[in-house]
Amino acid sequence: MGKYPDSWNGANKGEQKYLYTLAELSEMLSKKLSAKRLEHSHAVAYTAASIAMYNGVQDLMPFLYAGLLHDCAKFMYGEEFLVYCRENGLEVPKDAEKYTPTLHGIVGADMAAKEYGITDPDILNAIAHHTDGRAGMSFLEKAIHIADHIEPMRSFDMEPPLSEIRRLAFLDLDMSIYLMDKAIIDYLEGCGKVVTAQAYETVAYFEKLISER
Ligand SMILES: [Fe+2]
Ligand SMILES: [Fe+2]
Repeated sequence: MGKYPDSWNGANKGEQKYLYTLAELSEMLSKKLSAKRLEHSHAVAYTAASIAMYNGVQDLMPFLYAGLLHDCAKFMYGEEFLVYCRENGLEVPKDAEKYTPTLHGIVGADMAAKEYGITDPDILNAIAHHTDGRAGMSFLEKAIHIADHIEPMRSFDMEPPLSEIRRLAFLDLDMSIYLMDKAIIDYLEGCGKVVTAQAYETVAYFEKLISER
């Protein structure tokens, strides 16, 4: 396995000085999120950091902070996300009104910046785009996006099986994201649930990336 370029390893983060330690953040989040959600957030942090370790990334802090904070807005519901976006001048994606929970990413990134002292744009983007992904994702964004689905407590009945996606996340990150995202879209379509335009765009991006190898 080749090493990812330095520009992907979080080294382009500028001068992020963490305002809070991970333990302090965990304590703050425990007052807002359920115990289960907080445990999931820790699991995402360590899964993303493990993927980064495997790929020779030196600075693992962005993976831990982005993972711990990725669902920091998940204590809000429905309309609350729209109200927050309106009040804080956040742009709401076109179809987000149909499925407001997808907004917990951009709302979470805004909270990470304003309440938790995060200034690194790569960490903020990883939080903002963790649910639906986007074209041209950074390595950190990809690691958080896939870790959200493959952390040890997750289960998802899919083909290929989740165990294979977990293995691929280390060996072939782009392929693991493509297969996972496609399976999620198939599942959502199958039960008549909303799939965002952003989710379709992301899976098309990874499909093209893989086909051009
Ligand atoms: Fe989330
Ligand atoms: Fe999550």
